[in-house]
Amino acid sequence: MSQDIYTHLEKARTDLGNFIGCDANDLFFVQNPTTAINTVIRSLDFERDCEVLSSNHEYGALVRAWNWFHKEKGYRFVQRDMPLPVFSHQEFADYFCEGITDRTRFIFLSHITSATGLIFPVDEICKRARTNGILSIIDGAHVPGHIPLNIKEMDPDIYTGACHKWLSAPKGSTFLYVKKEIQEKIKPLVVSWGNDVDPSRSTFLYNNQYQGTTDPSAYLAVSEAIKFQTENKWESIKKRCIELTRTTRDRVLNVLGTPEICPKTDEWLGQMASVLIPHKDVDQIEEDLLFQFHIVIPVFEWQDQNFLRFSFNAYNDDSDADKLVSALKKLIP
Ligand SMILES: Cc1ncc(COP(=O)(O)O)c(C=O)c1O
Repeated sequence: MSQDIYTHLEKARTDLGNFIGCDANDLFFVQNPTTAINTVIRSLDFERDCEVLSSNHEYGALVRAWNWFHKEKGYRFVQRDMPLPVFSHQEFADYFCEGITDRTRFIFLSHITSATGLIFPVDEICKRARTNGILSIIDGAHVPGHIPLNIKEMDPDIYTGACHKWLSAPKGSTFLYVKKEIQEKIKPLVVSWGNDVDPSRSTFLYNNQYQGTTDPSAYLAVSEAIKFQTENKWESIKKRCIELTRTTRDRVLNVLGTPEICPKTDEWLGQMASVLIPHKDVDQIEEDLLFQFHIVIPVFEWQDQNFLRFSFNAYNDDSDADKLVSALKKLIP
């Protein structure tokens, strides 16, 4: 068997495709979700004044990318305000889709949001996008290895996910999935050797998957990351972490006296949770948590409110939750 880079990449794509429920030839690797979404925005044709419907919970770099290209590409990037607290996925999907107008041609939405740590009802929203002839673009940066993902069942048009966050692959391993029917629309962000060197039969692959001296080792490690989690019973680890996230959220809310931003259900919460905090100086709290208590969590302002977001993984247990709760008692009395 040939052991050239294309064979290795094909194996990594195949293992990942099996893990996320899509054909290995419908995805290629990129460095990060920002590269994936820049590729998408630069590639697509937008009718003048058409709308890209999104939410106010999206990741800042990607909001910036959509805003950056709107004049050149001619679309309007509409961030629908999705207020907190959220109640049910059904209600959320209904309210979000009320933002669809006769100009909406694209939906761009996170599957799990960065600041608010919420699982959005993207299956339902992709379904409604299809019914309305709208192309769905999903930012699943936080999804692979975190919550179940079956792209075939969800049927988005475009989906990106990072493998370094919850799948334990190295940084710099992200995929961009594009449905077969629209793959010809995707143009390489960087034009390189293409089919001069890449034996893949698909234009989508040979135009996008390889450049001369980029380092593909993070991409190739995705196979090992999937194997590692499978061999180490990650499903039961995730279950434990999800439970720990929920009990810790109750305890933290109790200490801080702030309201929950979502119900304590599988619908909304995985292994991370954001909570509202009353204190003003978020940078100081983040710094104190780090230097006084050796706790690394983001503490930040989002939409004029202050939040902290914590998450748990295999290496955490109840003692970490105890440490966080007792630190917050001291820092935010
Ligand atoms: C929801 C979401 N989207 C996209 C990204 C993009 O990450 P990067 O800046 O690595 O491209 C992140 C990173 O944390 C994220 O949380």
